[in-house]
Amino acid sequence: MSNELASRAQAILRANDRGGYTIPTSSGLYPAQWNWDSCLVALGFAQYDMPRAWQEVETLFSGQWKSGMVPSILFHGDDSTYFPNSKIWQCGDAVPSSGITQPAVAATVVRYLFERSEPSEGKHRLTRLAPKLLASHRWFYSARDPDGTGLVSIIHPWESGMDNSPIWDEALADVPPGPSVAHLRKDTSFAQTSVRPTGPEYDRYINLVVSYREAGYDPALIWQAAPLLIADIGFNAILQRANHDLLHLLRCMDDHEAADEVTVMISATAAALETRWSEADGIYCSRNTRRGRDIVKPGIGCLLPVYADGGTLARHRALGARLEDWLNKVTYGVPSFEPGRPEFEPRRYWRGPVWLVVNWMLIDGLRQNGATRLAERIRRDSLALVDLSGFGEYFDPLTGEALGGTEFSWTAAMYLFLRSL
Ligand code: GLC
Repeated sequence: MSNELASRAQAILRANDRGGYTIPTSSGLYPAQWNWDSCLVALGFAQYDMPRAWQEVETLFSGQWKSGMVPSILFHGDDSTYFPNSKIWQCGDAVPSSGITQPAVAATVVRYLFERSEPSEGKHRLTRLAPKLLASHRWFYSARDPDGTGLVSIIHPWESGMDNSPIWDEALADVPPGPSVAHLRKDTSFAQTSVRPTGPEYDRYINLVVSYREAGYDPALIWQAAPLLIADIGFNAILQRANHDLLHLLRCMDDHEAADEVTVMISATAAALETRWSEADGIYCSRNTRRGRDIVKPGIGCLLPVYADGGTLARHRALGARLEDWLNKVTYGVPSFEPGRPEFEPRRYWRGPVWLVVNWMLIDGLRQNGATRLAERIRRDSLALVDLSGFGEYFDPLTGEALGGTEFSWTAAMYLFLRSL
């Protein structure tokens, strides 16, 4: 852990700051505000500039839709170097945006900021944000679990934040590819093609966008017709953790009615998550809601129930053992997909590389479950990766090489945050 790296991390956040929000990287790859990036970046700002940390989340919520959805991307400025940009999405309420969401980390981050802010300042900020957080959690359940199963579904792999995880392969193959968009892609001019999603994946990503745009982003229409609907374990685990944090915040505000509402969400999701445990596979399984089929693939999201329920999870030992087994197969953890499986690709995005933001969730969950030794191992690996290779977007778990975009905001933020733990 070096002070020099900490200064570099702060310099990256400064360089990527666009005034009230932070772009993921200045390398050109992602020239807008991303939802979960911003929330996680706030954890980095919180180490040295609390007002700026709050501002990051507040700017994100300035783009919340009237429905309650917080979009995955807000296009505040020139987005011409990005595809698909605001011209393709053609939506947004107060701010041009994408028409899908991303993992619900906001309430968890707001709780962290609230607990470390001077009390009157924290209360002031929370009073403005809490109704927005509640609206976004209500939206998740009404728009994405209209049948009340307790598990919400995503409609696009991008919503998971784990864009090309093998978890989506089968469901994505059911999506018609539409016209080729190879000539429109911009990501491959900023990062090597071999570490990015493939052409057929990208064609389908865009075809999904077009079909939701044609449905006017209407949740009911989308629920009926979405070519892809997946109740993903990782996505639901992150939401469940945020439910717990939101509940805590609402209780701090003495909003008992809203707290009761969130308690109902928590009970439904806790029960539903347990039904997704597969004894035979020793893992929680996502579900292809559209097809009514289980997805028995060990992606990193399947381990995130350790982060969801703050020490109450019956299976945390089994998940810890599974995680340790993954770590023993690589040099640096945690790989985003189980090593040794045919789908595991150590350099391709979410099919194997290490992402520090997910490492943090595992560290936090393991600590809450008392697995401090394992948590510390992951924390050390995370800091060692930055030490070795700098602030890449993600890392090869076998060699530690930094991959994808460079001088990445959330990697810088996680470095600052993880060294503080
Ligand atoms: C990629 C990642 C996603 C992230 C975005 C911006 O799409 O898969 O999780 O939010 O880049 O960094």
